[in-house]
This record gives sequence, structure tokens and C-alpha cells, in this order.
Amino acid sequence: MTQHKSIAVDGPSGAGKSTLAKLLARELGFLYVDTGAIYRTVGLKAYREGIDPEDGAAVTALLPGLDIDMKYGGDGLQHMYLDGEDVTDSIRQHAISRYASCVSAIPAVRAFLLDRQRALARENDVIMDGRDIGTVVLPQADVKIFLTAAPEDRARRRYEELRQRGQEADYASVLRDILQRDEQDTSRAAAPLRQAEDALLVDTTGNSLEKSLGVLLDTIKERLRA
Ligand code: DC
Repeated sequence: MTQHKSIAVDGPSGAGKSTLAKLLARELGFLYVDTGAIYRTVGLKAYREGIDPEDGAAVTALLPGLDIDMKYGGDGLQHMYLDGEDVTDSIRQHAISRYASCVSAIPAVRAFLLDRQRALARENDVIMDGRDIGTVVLPQADVKIFLTAAPEDRARRRYEELRQRGQEADYASVLRDILQRDEQDTSRAAAPLRQAEDALLVDTTGNSLEKSLGVLLDTIKERLRA
């Protein structure tokens, strides 16, 4: 059996993880796995069911009947399905970010999703992005990257992304939400966001996409060869 390669990319929201990981996956011929999208889909379910995402017992009660699926489309991109419906766009709504952050702090939700994430890495060469990939999901990953940037930079990127999607947004509230989610994601007891000891820290503040991509690609190729 061939051992598949895995690359873990962790970091706070808006650091450029998904944009960069997608490009890296294409360059390396790896499968790109966006684990935030899976938490977002659980968040969307809670939202649609009118459940308070901070109510751990109510969210946990959803899990046994949860119909979530992930498929790779002809475009090579990850599509998320909830109850048979393609929700790839719906999970990007601004309101769902808070739901995703809240449900992801619930240990039962994390345990429920852990095996699925690991199975993907067993069966494919993956570049997986999230918050706890290098620390919890794939502690044996071949390469670990911790990607970060100043909150103002991250808020500007999120703001522009939301505007491009045609969603209402103002910079000040996007920045406020980013700071609040940073706090929530790093202070929770269950698999908090933190840099793995053996992860390479890459700060993309002020960098162009090309610059960050170049740095990451060189580092990854070097580490995969080692
Ligand atoms: O990467 P994102 O913004 O789409 O993630 C949505 C939320 O899911 C985020 O607030 C943190 C959480 N998350 C997590 O706890 N663990 C992961 N591996 C990925 C995301």
C-alpha cells in the first residue's frame, strides 16, 4: 500500500488558507480539503433548524440524523451537500460564519467529523486546511504550515470577498467579527486554534498572492523531498 502524502495548513480566518491551498493543490496534484466548509455545513443545519448554535445538547442531538456529503465536481472543487442539496454557496453567507464557529467548539461535533477527515487523508494525497489539522487531525502530516496575517489585512480580504459575492458588508463589522472569531477559535477547550510545534509559520501580511504562493511552494517541495 502506498503511503499518501499530507500537508496541513492551519491559521485564523482570512489568512489566505483556502486561496493558497487550492492553488498549491493544483500545482502539486493533491486533493484540496477545506475542513471549515464541513463545520459550516453543520452550522447551516443548526441555522435552518432554528437551533441556537451555542446550545451544545441541541446541536449534538442533530448529529445522528445529519446528512452531510462532500463531492469533488468536474471543476475539481469541493462541493458540500446537506440533505441532498448542494449548499456550497449557502455556507458562505456571513451569518453562517458565527454558526460554524459556535458549533465547532462543541466536542461531539469535532469527534463526529474527525474520522471523515482522516479517511480522506488515508485515501488521497491531501492538502487540508483548517484550525487543528497539524495538531489533532493529521499530527503525522508530512508538512505543516501555520498561515497568519494581521487582523486588518484579513478583514480587508474577507470584506472584498463578501463584496465580490454581492453580499452587504462593512469593513468595521467584518473586522469586529474576525477578532471575535479569533477569540472564540483560540480560547475554546476542544482543539483550539494553535500552531503545531513543528509547523512552519508563514505571515502573509502585506504580501501579494504570488509572493505567498512562491514561498509556500518552495518550502513544501523542499520538505516533501526531505
Ligand atoms: O475556515 P472557515 O472560516 O470556513 O471555518 C469556519 C469555522 O469552523 C471557524 O470559525 C473555525 C471552525 N473550524 C474549526 O474549528 N476547525 C477546523 N479544522 C476548520 C474550521
